[in-house]
Order: sequence, then structure tokens, then C-alpha cells
Amino acid sequence: MEQILLTETILEARRTLGNALLVLAHHYQRDEIVEVADYRGDSLELSRKAAVSGARWIVFCGVHFMAETAAILAKEGQRVLIPREDAGCFLAHTIDYPTLKELWRRLAEVMDPEREVIPVAYVNTTADVKAFVGEKGGACCTSSSAEAVLRWAFSQRPRVLFVPDQYLGRNTARKLGIPEEEIVVWDPHSPPERMDTFAEARLILWRGTCNVHVRFLPEDVYRVRREHPGVRVVVHPECRPEVVELADDVGSTSYIIKTVSSSPPGSVWAVGTEERLVARLAKENPDKEVFSLAEVPPFCSYMSLTRPADLASILEGLLRGEERNGVEVPPEIREPARRALARMLDITHSG
Ligand code: 13P
Ligand code: SF4
Repeated sequence: MEQILLTETILEARRTLGNALLVLAHHYQRDEIVEVADYRGDSLELSRKAAVSGARWIVFCGVHFMAETAAILAKEGQRVLIPREDAGCFLAHTIDYPTLKELWRRLAEVMDPEREVIPVAYVNTTADVKAFVGEKGGACCTSSSAEAVLRWAFSQRPRVLFVPDQYLGRNTARKLGIPEEEIVVWDPHSPPERMDTFAEARLILWRGTCNVHVRFLPEDVYRVRREHPGVRVVVHPECRPEVVELADDVGSTSYIIKTVSSSPPGSVWAVGTEERLVARLAKENPDKEVFSLAEVPPFCSYMSLTRPADLASILEGLLRGEERNGVEVPPEIREPARRALARMLDITHSG
């Protein structure tokens, strides 16, 4: 079907389903998706929207862990559907429940993790990882809540296990003034023979990164500063700490959008995050110069999967009374995972 027809199909379905439907879209989604959504936002904003929504169906245009988060927070009778079930996340794939349990078991060689360690999981994880964290009294976080959640975590127990994004963990730790020598990294592919160094650590990081944000390098910051005098550099906290150190500002996808959009006309911005967001930001701010920090701007291939035809087919299904691609989380995982998410929402309530 042609693009215009598909958009019309989506808008017509939205009109028919009215308040029973909420369409959410992450900022990295294609323009054609973002334009027909009820709401676009960063991970925290979208999970808040999902948590307070009274809609019967939430159609989540994003990656799987985001829709799963909405499903965990959903109310009785509410259903979350995802247009592309194969929309994963490179970062979420770096961690799994058995390996996380194995790390916990190894920590017990040198400390009492139940009393000494509080786990914090970035929302870019599967429900069972969130459930583990919830069971151990920990919390989830997003890029915009990481600082508040980490601060809270250190007020609960002397050590924090932060999974799976080592860069978000380190960047946030730097903000909190945690010295490098108190941070250790657990490499799930090459676990240490001895756990001695972990005994001294205050912050244990999982060795995971996002394939998209890892592409921004310190050389990019030097290059844009050379080529564009007066440029301001804003990056996502999933970027390498060396890049974040050199940048002028750092924050979530929504923070980046607000920062650039509210800057004076004529401002020049190099942006270190996914390219669809950067290209849209440039289009929406014609009075500014906005471009990617990287010479070859990186796309998130998982976020790119969702096309208007996928969304249209989910909505047409609903019109026929079919719930296609419903996101299911078994109750024994859902309850502890919900506790970890609820803690994050409580901690960031005023944010
Ligand atoms: P935000 O929470 O900043 O939207 O980030 C989500 C994400 O996956 C970034 O890669
Ligand atoms: Fe996951 Fe990276 Fe894509 Fe974000 S940009 S959804 S962290 S793979």
C-alpha cells in the first residue's frame, strides 16, 4: 500500500478506536510512525504514559523491551501490542538471567551480596532480568533517571551492581563523584578466576554497550570543533565516557531534543545519538544548524524495523477484534519486575 493510503488507514483506525487506543512511539522511530502516534518520548516518558493510561490497547512503536515494560506496568484488562516482535536491542541482548544469577553467585565468594549489593537494571533489559533486580530489592532506571536511581541505590546498600550498559553506569558514576578505583567491570564472556578485585568495589558494571552509541569517538568531537567553530556537542549517556567527557552536554533523547530546540537561533549542534532523531531535529529546527557527531551517522536497525504497514496491520486487526502481537509476561516474572519499575517511577516521581 502506498504511504499516503497507509497513513490514512492508521488515522482512520485511530479515530474509530478513540480513547480505547494509545499509540506510543520512541524518538528513534521513523518519521512516518512518529507522525501518527499519540505521543512520542524517551523511555522514561513512555513508561510513565503507559503506566497512567486508561486505554484498553497500547500499541508500542519501539523496541521489544519498551513494549514489555509497558506490559509489566499495564493495568488489569489492558493489552500492549508491538508492531514488530523482532525489534530487539543490541544492549538488552548483552545480558540474560542465568548469567546474571551466575555473577551474583560469584559475588558471594567475597561478600554477602544480599546484604551488601543492590542491583540496578537499565530498562534496556528483558523482563526476567528486571524481575531478578526487583526480587533483590533493586530498581530499574532509564537514561534520564539513572542519576537519581544510582543515588538512591547507594543510600540503600554500600555497593551497586549496574547492568547492562557499562558506559551509562560509568558516566553516571562520574557525575556522582565515584572514583575510578572503586569501579570494576564484569565481563560475562570472560569471568575472572578470582573475585578479589570485586571485594574492594563500590560499583560493579556489566560489560554491555549499545552498538549504535559506541560508534561516536573522541576524534569526532575534535573534528567537529575544528570544522565548526562555536559548535556545541550534546550526546546520549550510552556514549563512551571519553566522548561524554569532551561533550558540552549529555542527556536522554528527550533532553537532547529540548536542549537543541530551546537554544537561540543560529546555534550550531553536533548530536551524538541515533540518526533518525538527529535528522528530525535538524528538520524541526531550520533556524539552527544540527548534524550528527559521527561522519557516518549510525542508525538503530531494530528501531528502523517498524514501518507504517506493520502499525496499520496491528490496528486493522484490532478493528476486526484480533489482538495481534500481544506482549505477554508470565505473572511470576511480572510481579517482581513491576516492583523494580515501580521503584524507578517512585524515585523519579517529581522529575
Ligand atoms: P532514552 O531513554 O534516552 O530514550 O534512550 C533509549 C535508548 O534505547 C537509547 O539508545
Ligand atoms: Fe538498543 Fe542501542 Fe537501539 Fe537504543 S539505540 S534501542 S540501546 S540498540
